Amino acid sequence: MNNFSHLLMENNITIKDVDTVINFLRKNKLRIFTQSKKVDKFEKNWSKWLGVKYSVFVNSGSSANLLTLQAVKILYGTGEVIVPPLTWISDIASVIQNGFKPIFADINPRTLCMDENEIFKKISNKTKAVFITHAQGFNGLSEKLIRVLKDKKIILLEDVCESHGASFKNKKLGTFGLISNFSFYYAHHLSTIEGGMVCTNNKKIYEITRMLRSHGMLRESGNKKFESLMIKKYPYLSPKFIFLYPAYNVRNNEISAVIGDNQLKRLSQNNLKRSKNLKIFLNNLNKKIYRTDYELVGNSNYAFPLVLNKKNFKNRNLLEKIMTEKRIEFRRGNAGGGNQLRQPYLKNIIKNINFKNFKEVDHIHFFGYYIGNYPSLKKEKILKICKILNNIFYEKNL
Ligand SMILES: Cc1ncc(COP(=O)(O)O)c(C=O)c1O
Repeated sequence: MNNFSHLLMENNITIKDVDTVINFLRKNKLRIFTQSKKVDKFEKNWSKWLGVKYSVFVNSGSSANLLTLQAVKILYGTGEVIVPPLTWISDIASVIQNGFKPIFADINPRTLCMDENEIFKKISNKTKAVFITHAQGFNGLSEKLIRVLKDKKIILLEDVCESHGASFKNKKLGTFGLISNFSFYYAHHLSTIEGGMVCTNNKKIYEITRMLRSHGMLRESGNKKFESLMIKKYPYLSPKFIFLYPAYNVRNNEISAVIGDNQLKRLSQNNLKRSKNLKIFLNNLNKKIYRTDYELVGNSNYAFPLVLNKKNFKNRNLLEKIMTEKRIEFRRGNAGGGNQLRQPYLKNIIKNINFKNFKEVDHIHFFGYYIGNYPSLKKEKILKICKILNNIFYEKNL
């Protein structure tokens, strides 16, 4: 019997992570597992690993997006935010939910991130921020982009949920923007079951984000001086229950922090394995059938991008049929299902879309996929997957 299968992710949480959690659960006499010292420790270690001053651990990457846009709104007001159409829904939902207007810029097929020239075309005097998604482990930054945004005083926000450890000019992504976001969902480079991180070098943003994570509550700011000032300002309020912002409870917990901290020890090593895997994959795919010309400098991919060169629905359907038969798990549309502009939730918000202006993202939408790439994946298996994928098409059908 052929029991070949290739999942999107395997054993991202190892038995060692599980043992560490069990030890922690047993040793913790008070059995208080809500956000506390382990969360603090994970945040500090994560900040050190990334190279930023502050990190705030939340319950998902989507929550990280949400708090980021709320913090920007509180400190700088609303306006337009340039976003990619190839991203996760929460990157756009957070923009809308906080009263900003999303402005879309098409992607660069070699990075799957927004094309800098498309971004420049969309900048107006209302542009408040550019919210980059470093898609699928690729770098979306360039010197020119950083310089133009700085000159125009436009805020750079980085979503690094899919690209932990990727870098630009030897500096980790997530250290360039005013705020950066990470996801620790199961299939990502590091997993805390569910989880996310908001990172920044800005103390004020750090303190506001800490409060937003916990109902907008003053005592969460971590700034004692500010706290006593506010307590004096609002003498008629119970000092422990002063709510400065209408916010949420998106805290994470001690158990997830213990898993995250344990995983952090092997994150860089795992990233190297994933990058090595990606190279084997790209070197063995048939270039006539699939795209293999990605910009690989500084990449850190948790998945294999699989994109057909040609716009041919018959070929696409055949590819999906064979991958299903061979039990190669896949997601069409890459991150977030492809072109967000085609999703129903945007129908009443963005009217009269000309899809011709979004050719690159539409190509991924209809002819792009990702399949699993994880550290324990062996070379032989990658070669087998490439062979299956290459053999689907006869040269004459291309
Ligand atoms: C680019 C991007 N942003 C945000 C998220 C949301 O993260 P989460 O699933 O942890 O909410 C994801 C999810 O994979 C993502 O790919």
